[in-house]
Amino acid sequence: MKGVILAAGKGSRLYPVTFFTPKPLLPMANRPTLHYAFDRLKEMGVTDICIVVGENESIMKESLGDGSQFGIHLSYVRQTEPKGLAHAVGFAQEFVGDDNFVLYLGDAVYGSDFKEIASRFEASGVANLNLVKAVEDPSRFGVANVEGDRIVKLVEKPKEPESNLAMAGMYFFGPQLWKVLPDLQPSGRGEYEITDAIQMLIDRGETVLAGVYEGDWFDTGTLDSFLETSFYLSKGESLNAGSLEGEAGPMVIIGEGATVSVGKISDSVILPGANVTVSGEVRHAVLGGTVKVDGDVVNAIVYDDDRR
Ligand code: DAU
Repeated sequence: MKGVILAAGKGSRLYPVTFFTPKPLLPMANRPTLHYAFDRLKEMGVTDICIVVGENESIMKESLGDGSQFGIHLSYVRQTEPKGLAHAVGFAQEFVGDDNFVLYLGDAVYGSDFKEIASRFEASGVANLNLVKAVEDPSRFGVANVEGDRIVKLVEKPKEPESNLAMAGMYFFGPQLWKVLPDLQPSGRGEYEITDAIQMLIDRGETVLAGVYEGDWFDTGTLDSFLETSFYLSKGESLNAGSLEGEAGPMVIIGEGATVSVGKISDSVILPGANVTVSGEVRHAVLGGTVKVDGDVVNAIVYDDDRR
């Protein structure tokens, strides 16, 4: 089985940080987000991986190279514009060929492995198996109606969800997917939705299975989820790969080479290479670049850089 990682989005909810570091490379507990994806894929025996990149192509290639440093083989394709997950995956068709593949969203972080679900898909011979997870706020996600172990209906971000099972960002496909993509139309929000492509597989009589995931799952795209995921991965511990002057409260992650001078800091991440001087308190914040603040930084993303 091959792997395809989607990493072409703009990461706009983490601006301005993601102007400089693409979201899939943002450090989580001082390790780039995608490195966790490589671990999960390797556990399933997937080492031949294609990353769908966008405007971030050169920085992604420079940072991740051919993958040999991670014990995998990486190749890259470029999505011309971020027009949806089903649009993005289409660029990987030549790479995948007639093989089965697992589609992985580049901003997802998972707490447990997928060895069993991957083997279940491979043994089943079906067109598609998708990770689903019971969530409290399904309308933020693609939502699956499940009968037995089958998905019978899918709706992308429904206002009134018919189930609490969210599509959890990991999809196993056989080559049947390539037959439906040319017929797919853009959704109400103007994107080619992977949920719509899967619905087409169901409508054409293919078997689509649900793999219920009980483990922890994070989508890292906002300030709150960035901090939550970082401290989940660091097991609530502080990490310091730079230097800190000032009072340190709980949960502080300082990236490599960062220098930080503050009154007090807690529940915050300082990105690698940052140079931060804050006279007051830093709390529930992500700071990067060169930051000089007379006062407090609370509940904020602050990134200042001459390149902007
Ligand atoms: O997080 C799970 C959800 O992911 C699913 O429940 C939804 O069904 C699915 O549509 C998707 O929803 P999001 O709105 O959260 O997707 P997002 O736009 O955040 O993109 C997910 C990843 O795919 C992200 O790493 C960027 C990448 N991407 C996104 C788009 C729109 C691309 O590579 N190209 C694209 O065109």
